[in-house]
Amino acid sequence: MPAPDYTRSRAYRAAACAHLPFGVSSTPRGRQTPVPVVIEDAQGVHLTDLDGNRYIDFTLGYGPLLLGHTPDCVQAAVSREMARGLRTATVHRGEAALADLLADCVPTAEQTAFVTTGTEAVQLALRIARAATGRLKIAKFRANYHGWIDNLHIAGAPDNDGPSTIGQDPAASADVVLFDWGDAVQMASLDSSFAAVILEPAAINPGCFAPPPGFLEAVRIATREHGIVLIFDEVITGFRLGLGGAQQRYGVLPDLTVLGKVLGGGLPIGAVAGRRDIMHDVASGRLLHRGTFNGNPLSLAAGFAAVSHLRIHAETLYPRLDAMAADLCAHVNTQAARTGIPACAQAVGSAVQLFVGTKGLTCIGDLTQVDRAATGRLTDALLQRGIYTLPRGLMYLGTPHDDADMATTRQALSEALETLRTPPTRQGP
Ligand SMILES: Cc1ncc(COP(=O)(O)O)c(C=O)c1O
Repeated sequence: MPAPDYTRSRAYRAAACAHLPFGVSSTPRGRQTPVPVVIEDAQGVHLTDLDGNRYIDFTLGYGPLLLGHTPDCVQAAVSREMARGLRTATVHRGEAALADLLADCVPTAEQTAFVTTGTEAVQLALRIARAATGRLKIAKFRANYHGWIDNLHIAGAPDNDGPSTIGQDPAASADVVLFDWGDAVQMASLDSSFAAVILEPAAINPGCFAPPPGFLEAVRIATREHGIVLIFDEVITGFRLGLGGAQQRYGVLPDLTVLGKVLGGGLPIGAVAGRRDIMHDVASGRLLHRGTFNGNPLSLAAGFAAVSHLRIHAETLYPRLDAMAADLCAHVNTQAARTGIPACAQAVGSAVQLFVGTKGLTCIGDLTQVDRAATGRLTDALLQRGIYTLPRGLMYLGTPHDDADMATTRQALSEALETLRTPPTRQGP
């Protein structure tokens, strides 16, 4: 097929790099090849770039846009809120309104504290856990991602326990102990020196792994036995795996839940929700909770509108999204089996991960079998065919994806898989 024309995106990038490091505002966005395409317009789940190329979007803002880029309910709520003035850093009724709604939707959200990003929410959750227990140690799982702050931004891959970037302070993670996600037996080594265990209850970042049977239960039993605060990082899984997130889907209840992404309806947000007896000191002055943009009216209005919509339509919306994701995986796995191309896909809820280099993974440790370069070539080939995914092969489905979008995507996947037989040279951005 003829290569799409990216002339204007290339020219933008060349100019942008003058004053914007690497021409982007977040590292993964710079990984799109042959060039990070510059998006000019987004409607529903359809993107148009600066050169007029059109895409079906499966990044959905790296997860938050479960309702797409232009949900009526969110746009109307934000417009109404704008008309009342920005009211940044004031006390306003939107705060308690969203906290009340969360108490209704998320099984353990007795109280909720708002911040601006998922990363900040993780840090607040750690502080709450340490304050509640008077302990310092944190248990983290390899390849789980909890934002970019030094203390937890380590062990990004199952076979590398080190820092994720240059410039990190190794002392910041001195109190962090690493475990293997999915290994219930390892939970026996937790003891009463730990303040918290934090994990992705379904490991979307490592590649859409559902928790193995008994794993979350083992974490819950061990943390309860030793008085450790159990933190579910539901920044991705919250409102994506269902209205009550992973905790509702798997029936294991944490003490604290970190939320973000979908909760903001597409605007910046983070939140820590949890048990009243652990949360009650937050913001009191004993346990400082600060942030100029915490609970900003626009994000909370967007979040309230999005979550209200999800609550009304949950019974139909989530099964439909899950079925579409399962169908996409089945298509990839069938094509891979038919053609002999070593590739596979797996999903948790409406998050789908494509892998090249392996016919299937049973645990996070199997990620060492994945051919990351070839997975990148697959997503390049998809981009050329108008399918916009995260360069690492993660795809998020949203409510505006319709049958025609999915048929186009299946066709593009079939063609893109075929291109792997003769890998083209991958050009850097
Ligand atoms: C599980 C998880 N926790 C925390 C974060 C950090 O959230 P944010 O990017 O809003 O800071 C992310 C971001 O992708 C995430 O996936």
